[in-house]
Amino acid sequence: MTSTQITTRHAFRRTDNYTAGAPKLKLVEEPLPLPLAPTSALVKVHAVSLNYRDANIANGGNPWPVLPNGILGNDAAGEVVVVGNKVKTLFVGDRVAPITDTVNMSGREVGRSWLAADEDGVLADYVVFDEEKLCKLPTYLDWVAAAIIPCAGVTAWAALSGMSVGKTVLIQGTGGVSVFALKLARAAGLRVILTSSSDDKLQMMKEKFASPPLLTVNYRHPGWHEEVLSLTQEVGVDIVVENGGTGSLVKSIKCTRRGGIVSQVGYLGKQDACDLAELVPTIIDRRVILRGINAGSKYDMEDLCAALSATQMPLDDLIDTVFPFQQAEEAIECIWQGKQIGKLVLRL
Ligand SMILES: NC(=O)c1ccc[n+]([C@@H]2O[C@H](COP(=O)([O-])OP(=O)(O)OC[C@H]3O[C@@H](n4cnc5c(N)ncnc54)[C@H](OP(=O)(O)O)[C@@H]3O)[C@@H](O)[C@H]2O)c1
Repeated sequence: MTSTQITTRHAFRRTDNYTAGAPKLKLVEEPLPLPLAPTSALVKVHAVSLNYRDANIANGGNPWPVLPNGILGNDAAGEVVVVGNKVKTLFVGDRVAPITDTVNMSGREVGRSWLAADEDGVLADYVVFDEEKLCKLPTYLDWVAAAIIPCAGVTAWAALSGMSVGKTVLIQGTGGVSVFALKLARAAGLRVILTSSSDDKLQMMKEKFASPPLLTVNYRHPGWHEEVLSLTQEVGVDIVVENGGTGSLVKSIKCTRRGGIVSQVGYLGKQDACDLAELVPTIIDRRVILRGINAGSKYDMEDLCAALSATQMPLDDLIDTVFPFQQAEEAIECIWQGKQIGKLVLRL
């Protein structure tokens, strides 16, 4: 390890106080996990992108266990500032991000360890990771845009995998995963049907993604799935980026073509098993593949970064607001209220 004066960091840890109105985060100064292991790297964080998951964890709603008072955040972009003496793949100055599930290298591993849940997250000015858990970021993107890749980007990438030019995708909502999926779908030549609860948001997205025309449906209409079917001449879409969970899953399958894929990404609606009474007959009837998405592997992230570098796709149009690091609490509350279109990012 080369010499460094950096021994402490600032981090936002959860208060685990789930009372409405109580602060959900506390800024702490704490020692870094040093000395650096031989295969680890110290990373200076430049931007942290927030996800619905962060707001959900901060408000006690995560469906899986979380580390008490853990550091929030799983999407960061940063610069390697120190490397351990056995690090082979990284150099000081490399632009990197940790993978979201630090066990998931190839997709075949049986365990999982999610940042901000099973282990500390990345809402800090410095983080330490083993080199194998860090992925190199495309160099054409600034820090803010690069920070949306690891979770929202890789999830969207994994949710769309297997699609080819000319297929039709249904993307639900205008949040981070959805807008990233919309960009990737457009780049891949897919026909997109986008849903939202807001006609205003749909209008804004139609203007932003005007060519080819964006097809839209308001999912507040109880018959939204019939509107989707009608946009596909009653055939159904080839793939769904499913974000609602139990409340929308059966309808999503009903508007998917025979043999199509539903990528189950989110659980944004009220989760009630009673909504799934028709699930089995509907899956059988439509011969649909229901595919669980769990962010993605390191290989997925490398593939996405390669695709981004090849296309030089701008991502700044997916950023709703950039907050200073110190305003993490406000940014989390903003996500919790669901006011954004796309991503909220904290700049350090
Ligand atoms: N499985 C995974 O690996 C993975 C990875 C990342 C995220 N997720 C999950 O995916 C979901 C989306 O995450 P995100 O970070 O993109 O969230 P986000 O940025 O907070 O997106 C929220 C948006 O989703 C839309 N929405 C809200 N309720 C909905 C519903 N019942 N049905 C359809 N859309 C709804 C709303 O859009 P409108 O205002 O336009 O209606 C809302 O603004 C969350 O449940 C998150 O936990 C899963």
